[in-house]
Amino acid sequence: MEKTPAPEIELIDRDGEVTLSIGGEQAMQAWERDLMWASADMLCRHGKDFYEVGLGLGLSALRIAENPATRSHRVLELFGEVEDLFRQSHPKLPGTLSIERGNFFERVFELESESIDGMFFDPALDMEVWKDEELWRRAMPEVVRALRPGGVFIPFFSTKPELRWQYVQHFRTIHVERHPYTAYDTTEYTYGTTGDAYIQCFYKD
Ligand SMILES: C[S@@+](CC[C@H](N)C(=O)[O-])C[C@H]1O[C@@H](n2cnc3c(N)ncnc32)[C@H](O)[C@@H]1O
Repeated sequence: MEKTPAPEIELIDRDGEVTLSIGGEQAMQAWERDLMWASADMLCRHGKDFYEVGLGLGLSALRIAENPATRSHRVLELFGEVEDLFRQSHPKLPGTLSIERGNFFERVFELESESIDGMFFDPALDMEVWKDEELWRRAMPEVVRALRPGGVFIPFFSTKPELRWQYVQHFRTIHVERHPYTAYDTTEYTYGTTGDAYIQCFYKD
């Protein structure tokens, strides 16, 4: 099978406003830090072995790996260049952190059953992937399988108070926290540059 060529990946700093651009899209911006930290802290209240999808700027990855409760934190990243940029900015990484290369929709089938206490899920996906019902129908039961009983799945915040269909049918208990946010004036991926973000925590009962 032909490999999709890697998109152009750039770390842009404009007057202190930091953007990770992937294929010309704003994949991540540093104003999200407090939301990433709040999500990471929520995750770390649920155990000691964690897994994360999407390295980005590594804000959540470092916060999880540096939490005193954390024994291991594995982060899956699709693009080598994202990892290279992260390692350049952070030459010394916590011993709890390991970074793996791969695509979540392939790797999720390889996760060991009941091996993690929590997954933070923050890949930047194309709209066609979000809409692919069959893909989610196959992937999400694998996430649940990988979680230990009482473990949690925390996806990146939503700027609408809605539960995504991709996740909701796979869990019975959900905890939601509302956090105000202020994005950059140049942010293209939020509804307005200020508002409320909803961090959702899905429990494996
Ligand atoms: C929004 S960023 C993650 C931000 C991160 N939480 C932080 O605090 O900086 C999304 C990342 O997910 C990666 N990604 C996109 N699709 C992926 C996939 N299918 N599997 C693994 N990583 C993926 C992107 O390359 C990008 O680095």
